[in-house]
Amino acid sequence: MKVLVAGGAGYIGSHMVAELLDSGYEVVVFDNLSKGHREAVLGGEFVEGNLLDQNKLDETFKKYKIDAVMHFAADSLVGESMTKPDKYFRNNVVGGLNLLDAMMKYEVKKFIFSSTAAIFGEPDKIPIEENNTKLPTNTYGESKLAFEKILRWYDHAFGLKYVCLRYFNAAGAHKTGKIGEDHNPESHLIPIVLQVALGKREQIDIFGDDYKTEDGTCVRDYIHITDLAQAHILGLKKISVDNAQSTQYNLGHGQGLSVKQIIKVSEEVTGKKIKVKIAPRRAGDPATLIASSVKIKKELNWKPQFEDIHKIIDSAWQWHKNHPNGYSK
Ligand code: UFG
Repeated sequence: MKVLVAGGAGYIGSHMVAELLDSGYEVVVFDNLSKGHREAVLGGEFVEGNLLDQNKLDETFKKYKIDAVMHFAADSLVGESMTKPDKYFRNNVVGGLNLLDAMMKYEVKKFIFSSTAAIFGEPDKIPIEENNTKLPTNTYGESKLAFEKILRWYDHAFGLKYVCLRYFNAAGAHKTGKIGEDHNPESHLIPIVLQVALGKREQIDIFGDDYKTEDGTCVRDYIHITDLAQAHILGLKKISVDNAQSTQYNLGHGQGLSVKQIIKVSEEVTGKKIKVKIAPRRAGDPATLIASSVKIKKELNWKPQFEDIHKIIDSAWQWHKNHPNGYSK
């Protein structure tokens, strides 16, 4: 089966490409390299293109006989999304629509969508189940929720079969050590903590220690990037059978860890003291986000390999230690 991976040069997309290749799929990556890294794409065909360029999409679908699409090409910075809603709706909704329309034209009807916990906003129930209330508190989450709704109507009208995977906090790196997390600027907790351990930053600012959580810092559900990629392959298998049904899954472990716990585990893994400073809360951060993983475990038989946060952080640490400046280009 040939899978087009939109955004396959980014952190999550590149790990997806590695898993697909390992599992025997053919891969075509479509990425504009605005945030991704060419070096992160370990194989398959590569097309440099933007989802807003309908001609390029058309050309790509015509050239490669695509069977299924996985879509990671989106803007995903919560803070930026609040000041640039136009950018987020254009790239995440209009860009995604262009992709769907090319798929429909070439009769590609299998789609795996990279969604997010941000569609729920401040949760009304923990752990968060698939049908929890969805009231995004930022434009990023709103753009992803809008696209989930669009998918439903493409199924209804055109028979598109899709799986939405709502990620909680992706972390870690690939076992080969060749690919890992490299954002510029970096805003995610684990890479920043590890940059402190490497001496590349003086300290980690903890954004708020007065939340209603056990130690006052925000609680998140961290999932290893390889386990996350595996869930996509299971999702693709689910929609590759006759009479497949489209659906959505929350993708996390169902276990919460606070910012302070992450820092403590990082000290244990790296053997370095990590200097912290308590800083004001970051706008838009919910206190606690923990997924219910019951549905995905039951329906897809998803079995995460990285249950222990020490293993997840160690995997990230191996990448950061060996690539202190990220990718070479
Ligand atoms: N944090 C700090 N200091 C930092 C960076 C982060 O204290 O320097 C805290 C944040 O406030 C948050 C936790 O660490 O409480 C995790 O922050 P991340 O930025 O690593 O991750 P988020 O939970 O904010 O974001 C993740 C995804 C987003 C997605 C969001 C959904 O990375 O793409 O979940 O809520 F939108």
